[in-house]
Amino acid sequence: MLHRAVAARAGLECVPVGVDDDGMRVELLPDMDAGAVLVTPAHQSPTGAVLAPERRRSLLAWAERASAVVIEDDYDAEFRYDREPVGPLQGLAPERVVYCGSASKTLAPAMRLGWLVLPDALADAVAGEKALDDMGSPVLEQLALADFLEAGELDRHLRRMRPRYRARRVALVEALARELPEVELAGVAAGLAVVALLPRGSDERALATAAAQRGVAVHPLGFSRFDPASGPPGLVLGYASMPEPALARGVAEVAAAWRELQSARAA
Ligand SMILES: Cc1ncc(COP(=O)(O)O)c(C=O)c1O
Repeated sequence: MLHRAVAARAGLECVPVGVDDDGMRVELLPDMDAGAVLVTPAHQSPTGAVLAPERRRSLLAWAERASAVVIEDDYDAEFRYDREPVGPLQGLAPERVVYCGSASKTLAPAMRLGWLVLPDALADAVAGEKALDDMGSPVLEQLALADFLEAGELDRHLRRMRPRYRARRVALVEALARELPEVELAGVAAGLAVVALLPRGSDERALATAAAQRGVAVHPLGFSRFDPASGPPGLVLGYASMPEPALARGVAEVAAAWRELQSARAA
């Protein structure tokens, strides 16, 4: 959603591309006359699908044919709980792919530090835009992050956090199965949020509002769509910052909100 606002502000026209269980439907691109495509191939945001290997290949082949740029937002690839994370697309086509990484998921969003790996042809222009935009990111924070990386601390931190996040994910998934068996989960075991699909016809916004009134923040899935009604209703539930008992309590509140809405509908 934010990406769309950023692109629109830069004067770009955004067009949606469908996604399914294998990630972005790359076969739709040739008919779109696009100059760039934004993808989250390691873990589609927010559905959690991984871009299928043949689609990764077709995406890069399309970019080459169309002289287009692939913007790879690798925002949470470090967290995959069922197998090793897939490698970035950037390494396969460094002159076609703009790689975007961020410390927001691995360390803290408040740091506001991220990085780009750019095709040679774009590096100077992007550095120039960034200088005009903010005159550069804070140097002390960058040096501290560099030191943290060089000392191997980020790797240690990730090794420590992966099992914790995995346990939180398991607790959330178990609580959903127990309290809200009506929902179906989407996506692979990765990242820091779970997508719970609600039965067709459910009002995801009303449920998010009712959950918020009970002190639990969840995001309607439609917030991430061009047309909120273009797919099944659902909720995005983050689990990174809460221990397991709090997650179970949170799900119990969402379930109570759901039942209340169901009874109000039936009445
Ligand atoms: C899809 C996606 N990309 C990137 C980011 C990271 O953004 P930033 O580095 O600006 O915090 C997020 C954070 O929530 C995200 O959801």
